[in-house]
Amino acid sequence: MSPDGVKVQLDVRDWETREAFRRVIGSAAGFQVLDPDDYGAVQLLVLEVGEDLEREFRRIEAHLALGEDQEVFLTSARPDPEMLVQALRMGAREFFSQPVKEKEIVDAIERYKERRIESRLVRRQRRRGKIISVLGAKGGVGTTTLAVNLAASLVELDKEKSVALFEMNRVYVEVPLFLDISPNHHWGEIARNLSRLDPTLLMSLMHKHTTGMHVLSSPGNLDEQYAATPEVMEKLLDLMKTLFNYIVVEPGSVMDDVSAKILQMSDVVVLVCILSLPSLANVNRLLKVFFELGYPPENQVKVVVSRFMSKSEISLADAERSINKKVFWKIPNDYRTTLSAINQGKTLAEISKKAPVTREIRRLASVLFEAQQEKEESSPHFLWKLLGRK
Ligand SMILES: Nc1ncnc2c1ncn2[C@@H]1O[C@H](COP(=O)(O)OP(=O)(O)OP(=O)(O)O)[C@@H](O)[C@H]1O
Ligand SMILES: [Mg+2]
Repeated sequence: MSPDGVKVQLDVRDWETREAFRRVIGSAAGFQVLDPDDYGAVQLLVLEVGEDLEREFRRIEAHLALGEDQEVFLTSARPDPEMLVQALRMGAREFFSQPVKEKEIVDAIERYKERRIESRLVRRQRRRGKIISVLGAKGGVGTTTLAVNLAASLVELDKEKSVALFEMNRVYVEVPLFLDISPNHHWGEIARNLSRLDPTLLMSLMHKHTTGMHVLSSPGNLDEQYAATPEVMEKLLDLMKTLFNYIVVEPGSVMDDVSAKILQMSDVVVLVCILSLPSLANVNRLLKVFFELGYPPENQVKVVVSRFMSKSEISLADAERSINKKVFWKIPNDYRTTLSAINQGKTLAEISKKAPVTREIRRLASVLFEAQQEKEESSPHFLWKLLGRK
């Protein structure tokens, strides 16, 4: 199996359908069919739909969010046009009604190969990294823990993806402590040398952590000589977008024109809070600020409740009512594991891979880009079939 090979997972209940896929895909050069329970990188998911649509759609979303190479093929014994259109909007590529014809699978695999080659070429020419800002609604809610471990989870999800972690905090230097690194450089040097900014200078200022992520640290003081401006931020982030697939940024706690520029350029803003009145009041305040600024768009702001306990005094429903917005994700309360990670300068995965807090951050990383996946312009083949065209 070449490193470029395509791993395929068959989540298909119907025995005959599953075997047809296994035969065709299993014999296609460069493809490997995995066992249903295999964990790890899977590029192509063949999913039978029609039994539990909510779960199946979540599965599609989660799979497509894993990266740009991911694809989903669907099969069903009872295709429903409405369901298929929704699946198409989410990014599913092919549909096979049952009983499936092997020739249709062969053709779909050919189209898949063509798309893969094409998308790699396009990507090589134009890598557009996604910026995820992780913004604390208040101090001490777990923002740095989330930013660091989100970046680490993104690397872990797909080693092919390049990830940068950019600490913009102008007062404290925290990320190097969280990762037990001693970077020799920081973004302040870019602010001073903006005219010299190019990929070589930027990469020389970043520290490559053992996980594979590249860290750009904060100078950690308010010295005027490091004064960042929106112009510095724009140039820096624009350059980072050409070098990395994901850029996780902590814009810091101060809402000024520099943070505003970062938020404006972000693809996703993770707004971290806890279930406390002051924290929720700040979420409200920030959502109002975003509304007044006109960015980031409401659907790009994801409220994440950190240190979540199911028996908290303020329930999730209360919180959602008070901020008038759904909570996107909950990070379980686990003071011991998070503090141990901080004190040892390790990621949560290194401390406890299976802890719920680690798992939820990993899951958050994998679904965050659901709305960000670049939709391919051409309509998927199965829609044309559904509309009766060839
Ligand atoms: N999910 C969690 N459950 C319980 N405690 C947590 C969780 N996440 C972080 N903490 C704890 O909260 C404290 C602050 O964490 P962290 O430094 O990540 O927060 P922060 O919002 O970045 O803080 P600051 O505002 O000081 O920068 C740490 O002691 C950490 O162990
Ligand atoms: Mg912090």
